[in-house]
Amino acid sequence: MVREMTPDLSVALGGGLTIKNPVMTASGTFGYGLEFAPFYDISRLGCLIVKGLSREPVQGNPPQRIFETAAGMLNAIGLQNIGVERFIRDVVPRLEDAGATFAANIYGKTTEDYEAVAELLSDVSSLAAIEVNASCPNVKEGGIAFGSSPEGIARLTERVRRKTGKPLWVKLSPNVTDVGSIAKAAEEAGADGVTLINTLIGMAVDHRTRRPVLANVTGGLSGPAIKPVALRMVWDVCGKVKIPVIGIGGIMTAEDALQFLLVGASAVQIGTANFSNPRAAVEVVEGIEAFLREEKIASVADYRGTLRPT
Ligand SMILES: Cc1cc2nc3c(=O)[nH]c(=O)nc-3n(C[C@H](O)[C@H](O)[C@H](O)COP(=O)(O)O)c2cc1C
Repeated sequence: MVREMTPDLSVALGGGLTIKNPVMTASGTFGYGLEFAPFYDISRLGCLIVKGLSREPVQGNPPQRIFETAAGMLNAIGLQNIGVERFIRDVVPRLEDAGATFAANIYGKTTEDYEAVAELLSDVSSLAAIEVNASCPNVKEGGIAFGSSPEGIARLTERVRRKTGKPLWVKLSPNVTDVGSIAKAAEEAGADGVTLINTLIGMAVDHRTRRPVLANVTGGLSGPAIKPVALRMVWDVCGKVKIPVIGIGGIMTAEDALQFLLVGASAVQIGTANFSNPRAAVEVVEGIEAFLREEKIASVADYRGTLRPT
């Protein structure tokens, strides 16, 4: 009897980090991870990324903060979070108990804020990586001021790099002209990986009340609507940098995730899909494994970046 092969799903992400499979959850769409523990064993994820953490707790924007669009959603949460100290005290031990692999997404108003948050998190031995949000479009101080030029991203990356020995990922904005040069600048400044894309800036208005729908007026567009843009940007960046690229944007299924791996992403993050199907991320893990088995491909690494010419 021929034994069915078990594909190797593990992926190396730079900075000495290897995760058990290429599937992560995207910051801001998975709470602090524990909220999803009733739906499945969160230790099955390659890594979960918690909501963006700042030095102090943040209330976020007033409502309305979310609006459903055709094939996606707009959000303007405004980076609401419990603050890094409470995260370390109250959440980290519970994520450790759950056996989860987790990384922290961070942001600040100033470079010093980013440095302070990164420094505090560096002492958390169970933390797999730090993801720097240099790209939130919904608050002035959400990093977009740093993330929209190669010089800005280089300065921020260099400064955070000096404060942490953790694997460091820099999360990039799609709201720029040349994402490749920004990714390159992050790489040269010491990032171990880049994650992209954050949301695309959008807007919704009510034609009867004649008012914007979101209190913040504009918001970040996510979900299936942005997948082709995300895929193009990930493909572009994969051709420009040597460090691992983590692909995000509209991934709802294993097929979507495989397409990002095909254009060169080392791993993927599942965002908006978690809202419509809380089991989406673990189903993507199962779907990738089933595909590799079916195609008799020994590992994710063997499949990654094997896009053929037209
Ligand atoms: C409600 C909501 C909150 C988000 N909060 C954050 C955040 O705190 N930090 C961050 O870097 N990205 C944040 N994002 C962006 C997502 O992590 C992701 O980059 C984006 O939604 C695109 O992926 P998707 O189409 O799979 O949702 C948020 C997205 C949504 C929808």
